[in-house]
Amino acid sequence: MNYNIAVLKGDGIGPEICAGAVLTLEKIAKKFGHKFNLNYLPVGGCAIDEYGSPLPEKTVKACLECDSVLLGAVGGYKWDNLPADKRPEKGLLELRKVMNLYSNIRPAKLWKNLADASPLKHELIKNGIEIIIVRELTGGIYFGERKSGFENCAEYASDTEKYSVREIERITKTACELAMKRSKKLVSVDKANVLETSRLWRKTVHDYCEKHYPEIELTDVLVDNMAMQIVKDPAQFDVVVTSNLFGDILSDEAAQITGSIGMLASSSLGETKCGLYEPIHGSAPDIAGKDIANPIATILAAAMMLRDSFNLTEEYSAIENAIQKVLDENYRTADIMGKGKIKVGCKKMAELIANRI
Ligand code: IPM
Ligand code: MN
Repeated sequence: MNYNIAVLKGDGIGPEICAGAVLTLEKIAKKFGHKFNLNYLPVGGCAIDEYGSPLPEKTVKACLECDSVLLGAVGGYKWDNLPADKRPEKGLLELRKVMNLYSNIRPAKLWKNLADASPLKHELIKNGIEIIIVRELTGGIYFGERKSGFENCAEYASDTEKYSVREIERITKTACELAMKRSKKLVSVDKANVLETSRLWRKTVHDYCEKHYPEIELTDVLVDNMAMQIVKDPAQFDVVVTSNLFGDILSDEAAQITGSIGMLASSSLGETKCGLYEPIHGSAPDIAGKDIANPIATILAAAMMLRDSFNLTEEYSAIENAIQKVLDENYRTADIMGKGKIKVGCKKMAELIANRI
């Protein structure tokens, strides 16, 4: 089959990690007889430098027309002092919005043979971890009204969290569908003891689940308690649904307990099969260009694209198995390095994985 993929390398380590994912895709294409047409487009800081916008028109157009989008990372010191709507991050947020990608899935799993890289005690993780965070991605405080100015001679700033029942219902549906394929257990995270949006969130999730998925065992957890439970007993969680901001924060935490944020990928989907796939980590400008970044998250993002947008499940497994194989053979990038392991760079790690497909 023929697939058109928009590749948005972005900034910092973005180009290196995307090169690793592209190498993997090339190997898959050869092995399984597919053709991936890659269309490279600017986003983030590099797009600001070249086109004066973090999300140029031609990037939007190509992303709306392609079969799926692969993204590296955006942002860097150079653009840190620009006004909010000219920042590299704005490019990514806008893209999520224009593509209507409200449903962000961030699986945090502990890979076999990587338990040593986890900061948690062995007894807490000995039975494995697989937490799937379903994060609402196009609403909440990320997209609410923002203000700043002067009031009573003092400077102030405000951001607004707003959710509609419709927005909560559709993300609940995504989470329920996933939970039905797994443990049928769903945890919904909010701050309903304080926030009005959270009270609506909780009520809506409950109403929706009771009506459409009565078999699902639904539990509410307050976000502060959730942050604690993730490090206290991560094995208790399976599918977790939450708002944009809480999902952003909790997914970094869940990622780290599996060893490294450099191992975690995410998919963002809306009503169509055309999605955006990216690592959950950032552009890491401090290590950019040094060939020491971990390409695995981006390689996994490409794998998720094959599975979730193109229904290529065998190809997904081929990549997942290749990653496990490389880990079993003790190859590690710096972020997951351990005693007695073989340290490799970004490019080498990607080659090792591609060679095992
Ligand atoms: C993420 C990132 C983004 C977010 C930034 C880069 C805007 O942290 O994908 O988790 O906050 O959503
Ligand atoms: Mn984040």
